[in-house]
Amino acid sequence: MYKKLAKYYDLIYHWKDYEKEAYSIKNLIKKYKKSDGNQLLDVGCGTGKHLECFLDEFSCTGIDINNEMVEVAKAKFKDAIFEQGDMIDFNLKTEFDVILSLFSSIGYVKTYSNLEKTMLNFKNHLKKGGVLIIEPWFTKSAYWVGTPGMTTYDGKDVKIARLNTTKIEGDLSIMEMHYLIAEKDKDIIHFADTHELGLFETDKTLDFMEKAGLKAEFLKDGLMEDRGLFIGVKL
Ligand SMILES: C[S@@+](CC[C@H](N)C(=O)[O-])C[C@H]1O[C@@H](n2cnc3c(N)ncnc32)[C@H](O)[C@@H]1O
Repeated sequence: MYKKLAKYYDLIYHWKDYEKEAYSIKNLIKKYKKSDGNQLLDVGCGTGKHLECFLDEFSCTGIDINNEMVEVAKAKFKDAIFEQGDMIDFNLKTEFDVILSLFSSIGYVKTYSNLEKTMLNFKNHLKKGGVLIIEPWFTKSAYWVGTPGMTTYDGKDVKIARLNTTKIEGDLSIMEMHYLIAEKDKDIIHFADTHELGLFETDKTLDFMEKAGLKAEFLKDGLMEDRGLFIGVKL
């Protein structure tokens, strides 16, 4: 997943207002963070589009499982540290004042057992009073099963079409995504990625956060429609 896409990721998500989202998150950090420092970690950081908006106020680190995404981020931002790692069990041997995991990256841990481990790992990387902000994937009832999706990018030298199907198997949402990319002076390329994300219930996520040692809360109105935001503060 995301390997062949890394180079085109920022184009396919050209519609996303990262700056506006970062502004809302900064306000939440001001409200909830009790620790004194400004060390910020973005987990599942992708190409670093959110981190870019925090560089003015925070010392930023990004981690992503996908080395291709990490390489794109590293090439763009010299003022941040980027590492390859799995959110379930990475160990950066340091604690942060803020941990973010946005645009539903958390869903990729797939199972409740992995979600529980991930919450513990996040807690272990937080300072006392530090804040965790997670933008989840959908719950089962909010997921639009069966509905096909389409996203396009229409640039002068690059044109992208992504079509996907949506299925549910147990607690997993499965999206088969097909990309067609036409680029100036190149042959058209086609590739497919299967994305499997856990459809986690809100109460269960809150339970895992509390069990890990965080004071947890869910905000229904988050950054994107129907996703909400989890906030945890390390006790
Ligand atoms: C939808 S993208 C979001 C990227 C970025 N946060 C953004 O807002 O543009 C999901 C990201 O999660 C990463 N990811 C998936 N599973 C992961 C895991 N187990 N640990 C760390 N990153 C993971 C993917 O490689 C991808 O970059």
